[in-house]
Amino acid sequence: MSSTNENLESVNLAAVLETAKARVTLQERPIPKPGPDELLVRNKAIAANPADWKIQDYDFFVDKYPNVLGSDACGYVVDVGNAVTRFKKGDRVTGFAAVIYNSNIDHGAWQTYTILREIATSKIPDSMSFAEGSVFPMAFATACMALFVNLKFPRPPAVCTPASSTILVWGGSSSVGSAAVQIAKAIGLHVWATASPSNHDFVKSMGATRVFDYHSPNVVSDILSAAQEAGIIITKVFDAISEKGSLELASGVLADGGEMAIVLDWPTGTPQPPDIAVSLTVALRTGKDCEDVGAWFFNEWLEEAMEMGTVVPTPKIQIVDGGIEVTQKVFDMLKAGVSATKLVVLL
Ligand SMILES: NC(=O)c1ccc[n+]([C@@H]2O[C@H](COP(=O)([O-])OP(=O)(O)OC[C@H]3O[C@@H](n4cnc5c(N)ncnc54)[C@H](OP(=O)(O)O)[C@@H]3O)[C@@H](O)[C@H]2O)c1
Repeated sequence: MSSTNENLESVNLAAVLETAKARVTLQERPIPKPGPDELLVRNKAIAANPADWKIQDYDFFVDKYPNVLGSDACGYVVDVGNAVTRFKKGDRVTGFAAVIYNSNIDHGAWQTYTILREIATSKIPDSMSFAEGSVFPMAFATACMALFVNLKFPRPPAVCTPASSTILVWGGSSSVGSAAVQIAKAIGLHVWATASPSNHDFVKSMGATRVFDYHSPNVVSDILSAAQEAGIIITKVFDAISEKGSLELASGVLADGGEMAIVLDWPTGTPQPPDIAVSLTVALRTGKDCEDVGAWFFNEWLEEAMEMGTVVPTPKIQIVDGGIEVTQKVFDMLKAGVSATKLVVLL
């Protein structure tokens, strides 16, 4: 039986987009009820993603308005649907809010109460703060898709053969890139990455053995020389940036027959390298045609990896004070650009 909403605070303060491309306005919304396989979460921390400001600016993915954006919701469970088996009231959880693919206003993160799907939710360890828990869903789901679906690395408990396979993560200091570095390290890959020099120590601390400065005019030859010295042929690249010239550089590292997962569409009118298999990573597939991967990742792998400390919250968290009221400010800050930083709002 679904539990009731009694004892909840009566106000669900939300950052609402009245229409496509509108600026955020604060509104009070009803507290939603979870469907059978859903949870109602009282958010305590919400993390920002580029998708937030991009959907606002360019009007894609979400096709119903008014709406509430946001993918990373972290807090405690206050209600569960009658088919939910893994979670109960009071659990501390983080989850990938589904508004980005179902356009359901109750499934957006930027409000006090969010509906999360059970298959997109993980418990967070007692020792982990809500702010730390909030950084995982979107970035780690993207990295999960890139590694296990696009680049076809075997999902644990299956192991990679050879165990020493190397992956290059372009943009290792970004949210998505640092998640990929951590997951790749956790499944036994040799990880190389690119980042600005000021972030090399951070990316190495996540598990990359070599980090290259993508600003260097010689970055491709630097990587190829290092690979030759190490007796390595790089066959798989995850370009976690996929703009600002990264596609050409990242693909330049691959030998013929190599595979590259990217996060943004390859620009139309720019030819793709003919002998490399390029595929677009789509994080929201973890809630659509790759639900099996999503459920495995959120309900099993990520939950256990957080508990064991195999993965840690990255990149560094910057709390933006002010609660839901600062949602638009946070979108604007992220649009202006960050370096190895995740913007998080506490409620
Ligand atoms: N397809 C999907 O499903 C999906 C899902 C999530 C995100 N995305 C997209 O993925 C991109 C990254 O998202 P995010 O949240 O990870 O972004 P982010 O953390 O805000 O990205 C900032 C980082 O990007 C790095 N960077 C910028 N330009 C770079 C370049 N040319 N080469 C290497 N690194 C560079 C910077 O590194 P330094 O400071 O070290 O220079 C910085 O740390 C966004 O475009 C986002 O929209 C796509």
